[in-house]
Amino acid sequence: MRPLRLGVNIDHVATLRNARGHAHPDPLRAAQLALAAGADGITAHLREDRRHIVDDDIFRLAEMLAARRKPLNLEMAATEEMHAIALRIRPHAACIVPERREERTTEGGLDVAGQRGHLAPFVRALTKAGIRVSLFIEPESRQLDAAKAVGAPVVELHTGAYCEAKGRARARALNRLVRAARYAEKIGLECHAGHGLDFANVGAVAAIPAIVELNIGHFLVGEAVFTGIESSIRRMRALMDEARAGAAAKPSAGRKRKSR
Ligand code: PXP
Repeated sequence: MRPLRLGVNIDHVATLRNARGHAHPDPLRAAQLALAAGADGITAHLREDRRHIVDDDIFRLAEMLAARRKPLNLEMAATEEMHAIALRIRPHAACIVPERREERTTEGGLDVAGQRGHLAPFVRALTKAGIRVSLFIEPESRQLDAAKAVGAPVVELHTGAYCEAKGRARARALNRLVRAARYAEKIGLECHAGHGLDFANVGAVAAIPAIVELNIGHFLVGEAVFTGIESSIRRMRALMDEARAGAAAKPSAGRKRKSR
């Protein structure tokens, strides 16, 4: 089974910093500790209203990560302003997300199927600049088909509905993620996932073989208040790795393995 990467989203370190308007706690320091604790890369969302991460954070992060040869995944809306910033920074990856000022967080996936005309040239321009584009979408085949059609090499499946659901609804939501990830793989899209993941719900998502990256933020930063950021990330990393190893050991995971 392919390894599973962890991208740590440091937005809410900036939320805490901005509450006082000074420099502490610095998201850059959180990013350095995240890498030391086993993160494969750093994710940050530069929102139009700059409610957490600000431009200077992104410039500093890009510089620090380039020096360490670690990937920066810049989450951004498909706007001209963000397009210009992405071309200046040239992050390893850009994850295009929907954005509404009045929302608390990214509440749903991008409607790629409804915005093909706008997104296709946007994806093309970023790709031409050497940026690996991913589209943050609901786990639906029509959105996956549309992502493929606009030329994105990667999708990130929104796990919010799964994380919020209870009982049977959760099993159904998980099933939608499993099917969407399989379909993404089938049509040649690299598949990531994220939003709302925590220690209790990460295992089932980490065990989906077609998913190769998880992006996790709010829970890790919240848990860091109690145990420290390195400890919270180490525990998440261990839970992901355990679930992955467990899934690899199951006979169904050997779909493509040769029998001995
Ligand atoms: N992936 C994307 C595209 C997101 O927008 C977010 C939230 O910023 C996350 C992952 C991380 O979600 P959470 O902070 O709930 O872990």
